[in-house]
Amino acid sequence: MRIFMDTANIDEIRRGAALGVVDGVTTNPTLVAKEGVQYRDRIMEICEVVDGPISAECISTEYDALVEEARRVAAWHPNVVVKIPMGEVGLQAIKTVSAEGIRVNTTLVFSANQALLAAKAGAAFVSPFVGRLNDAGHDGMEVIREIVAVFDTFNLPTQVLAASIRNPRDVTEAALAGSHVATLPPAVLFSMIQHPLTDKGIEIFLNDAKKYTPV
Ligand code: G3P
Repeated sequence: MRIFMDTANIDEIRRGAALGVVDGVTTNPTLVAKEGVQYRDRIMEICEVVDGPISAECISTEYDALVEEARRVAAWHPNVVVKIPMGEVGLQAIKTVSAEGIRVNTTLVFSANQALLAAKAGAAFVSPFVGRLNDAGHDGMEVIREIVAVFDTFNLPTQVLAASIRNPRDVTEAALAGSHVATLPPAVLFSMIQHPLTDKGIEIFLNDAKKYTPV
């Protein structure tokens, strides 16, 4: 499973990239607003740190404006994937720009039906929001499983990008569900490294290592 970081914080992205396990980055207007930067400037910085798909979200709500915005954002850098929210206008725009070779990450996906339509429109990725589905009393990981099953059944090339990940268990379950990608907040990524038994084991080894001459 590919691991993306779900943040626009460049310091956290640099820290994650240093692990050698980060395959891409996803951003959205909320994450960028937190940083107080211009969207394009931050995306260009991220593209210098992570050599992989970098999602940048389009916000236009009318078809012509959305298509023009997607073309403009896609031109920022070859690694940029444009994020387009699921919807009727969104699908029309996904169909248009995907046919032009622009990679689209369809965001705010909450059902297998939405994911199927996005895949048929040509999206490169679909982003089902697991955490928000769970917050609303649904089974977010079941939606991931359904989408993976539908895509596998019909050999659809669109990749499932599990989003709205809230804890390390979500990562394990997304992997078990067959999600192609999971995009992780920095705190989730870094907490995956830790385990109390690892810490305890290191402590014991270091104490015992004092009993012999260092190698
Ligand atoms: O990539 C989408 C993600 O940032 C949404 O996460 O926690 O706001 O539902 P969350």
